[in-house]
Amino acid sequence: MSETILDVQNLRKTFGNHEVLRDINLTVDKGEVLTIIGRSGSGKSTLLRGLNLLEPPTAGKILFHGKDVQAEDFNLATYRAKVGMVFQNFNLFNNLTVIDNIVVPQMSVLKRDQNTAKQHALDILNQMGMDPFINAKPAQLSGGQKQRVAIARAEAMDPEVLLFDEPTSALDPEMVDDVLNAMTDLAKTGLTMIVVTHEMEFARDVSDQVLFMNDGVIAESGTPDQIFGNPQKAETKDFLKRYLSRA
Ligand SMILES: Nc1ncnc2c1ncn2[C@@H]1O[C@H](COP(=O)(O)OP(=O)(O)O)[C@@H](O)[C@H]1O
Ligand SMILES: [Mg+2]
Repeated sequence: MSETILDVQNLRKTFGNHEVLRDINLTVDKGEVLTIIGRSGSGKSTLLRGLNLLEPPTAGKILFHGKDVQAEDFNLATYRAKVGMVFQNFNLFNNLTVIDNIVVPQMSVLKRDQNTAKQHALDILNQMGMDPFINAKPAQLSGGQKQRVAIARAEAMDPEVLLFDEPTSALDPEMVDDVLNAMTDLAKTGLTMIVVTHEMEFARDVSDQVLFMNDGVIAESGTPDQIFGNPQKAETKDFLKRYLSRA
């Protein structure tokens, strides 16, 4: 039986009088990969930021294992550690080496001792083929390498869910595959992932569910076969046209 990790109910977000998210409902089960596609400005980043409460929702509920994350007695620090985020622009600590980028958060947030944190970081960097770069600073790395370090850092926190906000959008085309491969490997470990992306092949091949967002609502959702093979709504078809014609 599947276990629901995140259950989002009637989520809304308003900036001033601009309603950016309108009545968002979704559930994510353990081990699922959910991808979110849609035009720029449709509210995808706001939704991700809402999910880990970087941006508090205006209305609606987010349940994590059935618990209301906005309740007063909910442990938000623990929640943030369990729901990690990977950003388009990496957000690495540029003054720290690769290994320290991964060691320091484990020590400060999870209170791991240095040796444990370091071993964990090395294991993950090895798996990603990033071990030659442990003593490099982010400025010495390519965009694809930086993003793999950012993913390693998120993974090292032993999250239950990882949120990815267009992790390959800032990369040169030849680096996109390395990052998508690292994400595919992560998905295969059974990690629950929510991925905002314009990489339609990844969405089609790796996801369990696809959501198409349009103008602050989930216009259509379904399996990759349904969304890419047999979209129902005119706006979904219209959005996908430019991608499918390129394939
Ligand atoms: N902090 C903010 N203040 C005001 N408006 C915002 C803020 N963040 C996002 N928006 C607006 O919300 C809409 C959706 O933005 P966003 O979630 O970034 O879309 P997407 O990630 O799909 O491109 C846009 O119109 C954007 O200008
Ligand atoms: Mg965005």
